[in-house]
Amino acid sequence: MLAVSGGIAAYKAADLTSKLVQMGAVVEVVLTKSARHFIQPLTFQALTKRPVHTDVFEGWTVDSFGHVTLAREAGVLLVAPATANTIARLATGLADDMLGAVALATEAPLVLAPAMEHHMWQHPATRANLSTLMERGATVVPPEQGRLASGYEGDGRLATTPAILATLRAVLGRLGPLAGRRVVVTAGGTREPLDPVRYIGNRSTGKMGVALAEAARDAGASVTLIAGPTVPDLPAGLDILLIDTARELMAAVEGATADADALIMAAAVADFRAREVSESKIKKGQGESRVTLELERNPDILAGIDRPGLLKVGFAAETESLIENARQKLLAKDLSLIVANDAVATIGSEESTATLIRRGTEPETLPRMAKEELAARIIHEVAGMIAAKNGARHA
Ligand code: CTP
Repeated sequence: MLAVSGGIAAYKAADLTSKLVQMGAVVEVVLTKSARHFIQPLTFQALTKRPVHTDVFEGWTVDSFGHVTLAREAGVLLVAPATANTIARLATGLADDMLGAVALATEAPLVLAPAMEHHMWQHPATRANLSTLMERGATVVPPEQGRLASGYEGDGRLATTPAILATLRAVLGRLGPLAGRRVVVTAGGTREPLDPVRYIGNRSTGKMGVALAEAARDAGASVTLIAGPTVPDLPAGLDILLIDTARELMAAVEGATADADALIMAAAVADFRAREVSESKIKKGQGESRVTLELERNPDILAGIDRPGLLKVGFAAETESLIENARQKLLAKDLSLIVANDAVATIGSEESTATLIRRGTEPETLPRMAKEELAARIIHEVAGMIAAKNGARHA
């Protein structure tokens, strides 16, 4: 259920509704009285193809008992934008409008995306009301800094649609198969410096790693995403560590896996680094037609990490002998699962064709699918393996 309260950011709730519908959600929209000064019910009716709720005294039918039905059927109650007034009303427990009545009657989790003038946001009354709601279990998607409708620069802008959607997915996944588990995911390529302006890198964009981190979060895990510099869109609802080089990645992995259940190594790690990094820019010199770069081996992070109880998942991007090479890596790096794919067809693409290779079973080649879909499939597999390891029942 999406409740829209009355601030100028109410127009952004239309985009949010559209995205939710596209993701397959059934969206019941409630507009407060003030919201209707900014946006009309018809906008949301057209987007959801459902009636929009504006009045706590709307008529009951055999199928719909107003706020009672809305409260019972909601999977999550999102208030976006949540104005200072609406936050105060929710904290007090007023039930004289549809939003207030549903908020009291529902057992669904409450997610608030505040948006308001920045003095109102910083006011102790607003802070106290938010603290009250958070103590009762509400999740807040904090507003962003930027230019406000008031003309001021400050915090109070509604969080972006992707940030709100990410929080919703995380809240809805709280009781998922990875609830209570800690998962570390690495994503993107590393960069090995040659001098202050140049580096050795690779074409990995980090899409697969990001999709895996999001899928683990959506399955209820608390996730640490360790990302290289090529990863452009870092998702919300995760702990994020940024690294450049393979050795920085290794240190981050060692720290993050101390109490983790699984390590998913989707990063494209440079196997070699420059033996010497020049402190000043390397000049091309007088008429030199050839330069030799001496490289030395980086540590193999996945092979080197050895923690009792840590499930290790690797990737093998190959250009030839896919299954054979991947199987060797599965054994050499002591992995529970390796995801093998064609390096050329996968790196930089939105889709992937993957073969899952586990110990003691036949490789399973999956059809070509979007990286998000593949990520959900791999996380399902990981959840099953963790549950089996811990002797728990996996749904
Ligand atoms: N990996 C790692 N540390 C490295 C190199 C790779 O942890 N220094 C991880 C990758 O993140 C991946 C798996 O090991 O999950 C396999 O990586 P890949 O580059 O395919 O294999 P390599 O062991 O580097 O072997 P090669 O480059 O010879 O194919």
